[in-house]
Amino acid sequence: MAANSLTVTDNRTGKVYELPIEQGAIRAMDLRQIKASEDDFGLLSYDPAFMNTASCRSAITYIDGDRGILRYRGYSIEQLAERATYLETAYLLLHGELPTSAQLDDWVYQITHHTWIHENMKKVMEGFHYDAHPMGMIVLMVGALSTFYPEAKNGIDGETRKLQIIRLIGKMPTLAAFAYRHNLGMPYAYPDNHLSYTGNFLNMLFKATEVKYEPHPTLERALEVLFILHADHEQNCSTNAVRSVGSSRVDPYSAVAAGVAALYGPLHGGANEAVLRMLGSIGSRDKIPQFIKQVKEGKAKLMGFGHRVYKNYDPRAKIIKRMADETYEVTRPSPLLPVAQELERIALEDEYFVTRKLYPNVDFYSGMIYESLGFPVEMFPVLFAIPRTAGWLAQWQEMIEDPEQKIARPRQVYTGPAQRDYVPLGMRG
Ligand code: CMC
Repeated sequence: MAANSLTVTDNRTGKVYELPIEQGAIRAMDLRQIKASEDDFGLLSYDPAFMNTASCRSAITYIDGDRGILRYRGYSIEQLAERATYLETAYLLLHGELPTSAQLDDWVYQITHHTWIHENMKKVMEGFHYDAHPMGMIVLMVGALSTFYPEAKNGIDGETRKLQIIRLIGKMPTLAAFAYRHNLGMPYAYPDNHLSYTGNFLNMLFKATEVKYEPHPTLERALEVLFILHADHEQNCSTNAVRSVGSSRVDPYSAVAAGVAALYGPLHGGANEAVLRMLGSIGSRDKIPQFIKQVKEGKAKLMGFGHRVYKNYDPRAKIIKRMADETYEVTRPSPLLPVAQELERIALEDEYFVTRKLYPNVDFYSGMIYESLGFPVEMFPVLFAIPRTAGWLAQWQEMIEDPEQKIARPRQVYTGPAQRDYVPLGMRG
């Protein structure tokens, strides 16, 4: 009997099976040989919400949820946030190594020169109501890009794939800024190739009558750090959506549109918006005990707390909290900051949150900074989607290149009625 194996006894038949263990996992397909009878389909593993199922092997992002560790390609998130730029981080995620100086120059040049969008995309944008949610607009606009680049259907080919990746990373800030200005009824501001990725984004958002927009370096860097923190997070809901949709071999624009849609939800990237709305509805520090009581009674959720993987303080939240002080030297802190700080203090001491290992996640404080940078709450999930595009594409690419991956197609445990005969309309009820 191999040491690295699992011995399973099927008590229905008394048969014993030996299942190999590789990298801490058994293959679910190895369970299929376990049958109660000859015509039995074979044993399935039932795992709603993928609580304990690895859907892929990945060499991109490592998380140790118990110790609060996050690394991209082996580099700690703390070091990257301190020393890298977002585009350098995006390169790392997609290529596996940090770029050399020449590689970085070329990468930045390529992305910078793919920030423009086709003028007809503006007409698509104009079809939206003035108060359309920007995430809804981005879902559609990213999907619409696929119709402008039909060659992207050949997404598994090396050079074509590379070009779509550059286009998507380049155009996401443009789509986001155009959605923002559409909501305000302002004319669109076009990309400025002389600015950094985040500097140009601020330019497209906030440029008014000045001839040249000069981003404030502290705010430009704050956004850069926020983008690095949000660049990837292994197999989360939206990444799983991108991999799953992409596994049908659809073009990457459509796959990323699925990722944006998944991210929109309040349990995922929409949580940053939900946190601000929650803090606004609590309103003041004296209302916090009443709110905590409602959470403990199951009548409300403490948005920005809890995580499927982290059972410790989210390392991204720690970095954001530290960075917030530098940002507030230049901007006005959110008036809701004292409510957030007190809520965190109370929750971290409360037995309900302590026993469930519920800590602040990335979304608890990111909204505070976004608000102080002048963004409306609806834009918060969009600010998550822009940088996550690099992670989605790295994961999509890894999936395409993985010979073990096929079209994603989970099994189910059928619980409906057995076969029965159709009943004519007049004979029902
Ligand atoms: N407030 C109150 N109770 C909570 C919370 C919360 N935010 N999160 C989890 N719990 C409770 C939950 O009710 C359950 O209690 P019990 O054992 O008594 O039934 C227990 O903690 C375990 O929670 P779970 O729902 O089984 O955990 P999950 O892994 O399925 O959900 C989560 C993870 C992030 C969806 C959840 O913690 C949540 O809804 N948090 C609020 C939304 C949020 O902040 N999302 C952003 C996640 S981080 C950024 C990202 O990746 O998108």
